Amino acid sequence: MRQSSLVVVANRLPIDDSVAPDGACEWRRSPGGLVSALHPLLRHAPATWVGWAGGTGPAPNLPDVDGVRMRTVPLDQDDLRDHYEGFANATLWPLYHDSVEQPQHHRRWWEAYQRVNQRFAEATAEVAEPGAVVWVQDYHLHLVPGMLRAIRPDLRIGFFLHVPFPPPELFMQLPRRAELLRGMLGADLVGFQRAQAAHNFAQLVAKVLDLPATDRRIGIDGRVVRIGAFPVSIDTAEMAALAARPDVAARARRLRQDLGSPEHVILSVDRMDYTKGIEQRLKAYSELLVSGHVKVRDTVLVQVAVPSRERVGQYQILRERVEREVGRINGEFGRVGEPAIHYLTQPFDRAELAALYRVADVMAVTPLRDGMNLVAKEYVAARVDDAGALLLSEFAGAAAELPQAYLVNPHDLEGLKQGLLESLHAAPADVRARMRAMRAHLHEHDIRAWARSYLRALDETGALVDRLTST
Ligand code: ADP
Ligand code: F6P
Repeated sequence: MRQSSLVVVANRLPIDDSVAPDGACEWRRSPGGLVSALHPLLRHAPATWVGWAGGTGPAPNLPDVDGVRMRTVPLDQDDLRDHYEGFANATLWPLYHDSVEQPQHHRRWWEAYQRVNQRFAEATAEVAEPGAVVWVQDYHLHLVPGMLRAIRPDLRIGFFLHVPFPPPELFMQLPRRAELLRGMLGADLVGFQRAQAAHNFAQLVAKVLDLPATDRRIGIDGRVVRIGAFPVSIDTAEMAALAARPDVAARARRLRQDLGSPEHVILSVDRMDYTKGIEQRLKAYSELLVSGHVKVRDTVLVQVAVPSRERVGQYQILRERVEREVGRINGEFGRVGEPAIHYLTQPFDRAELAALYRVADVMAVTPLRDGMNLVAKEYVAARVDDAGALLLSEFAGAAAELPQAYLVNPHDLEGLKQGLLESLHAAPADVRARMRAMRAHLHEHDIRAWARSYLRALDETGALVDRLTST
């Protein structure tokens, strides 16, 4: 077994199997913020990525991807249902997102969560060389740091949560709250998107585990666990270069023509998830059509909503409701060849996404709650022309870093409508000034800066940081 000095452990591998037009199986980059964040970083690093390849068959042997070794962890049908769809995505996910849907609790799910976390810990222990740095990602794997430390105390272990970490009164509802906190404290460094999340974690550790905790350090078993905020970002330069490519600019012009050359294009790009505020946004748009503030001939909405977690009941219900509403709005306000909403559920390659960003006069990113939201950052990076207005929810982590966006509270329908109108009709000089400021921020605070700050805090020798972030 080949071993690596850096091991990333995430529920999903950065590639997914899909069926090519000729029926053959092909591998493509998985959609989702975690992969978007880490994939560019690890290219050409001597690292191993431990994760699930997406199916329920035996773990496939995958080739290296851009120099990164793939170590697959298999999930069977029961694991998929009880760990991934159950505990991760029907207990933790809704709870961590303000309980916008009701979290469900089943003892069987907890057993599966432990079992799968143990499998990930064992796979990681096999591929990590002595003294390696291991970086565990996200809420599917809260127990891995503790389990891994029990097998391999020589490792330097980091944990990073990509989603919000809830306030104590919500987290306290979890029947297994103490075990989850203890699992995370197996790490040397626990990172969050926001300082508020680190504060919530410290409060919970003090209350539930009765350990000495500040917002920066926690003492446990004679060790110090550091905690802190490390807002994740994107490969800004890569997105900017892609968006500036002549073929992408030409594709954007073509897309605009295909949309009927409207005066305004509003774009939203989401996973089909109830946290993303898709229904609220459709309602706001529909009410603006009813009141006549927006006319289909001048303004079109392009909603990209790639299906996600499709066997989880709450996601099935959401998709049905969204599709019914899109159908209703198009039926009521569209004309032949002129739909009010262009609704797309396909995954796109990065160049097509960049072209879509370039065509959007208003990018509406209005989640009810989101750890960060990388789509918002990708849009800003793609606007190399300094044009385009970002309409952004106050409840996305990105809002803390991009205060120049047109900020809205997506729970406030009237406010959302006002925000849409304001961003649609903003003076070009205002739009440019805001976009320029946001681009400058992302130029500095990109994915390498994120990795540098996290890994520097984790691996104080600095050796890894230099190797990973110098490219
Ligand atoms: P989340 O992590 O909840 O999925 P983010 O906005 O942080 O949300 O990240 C979503 C990522 O998935 C972005 O990098 C975005 O470009 C990508 N993505 C979203 N929709 C698509 C799609 N239809 N095709 C390809 N990539 C997509
Ligand atoms: O950021 C939250 C997250 O769960 C990521 O881990 C992942 O990139 C994304 O959402 C997509 O979710 P899934 O892996 O369930 O398709």
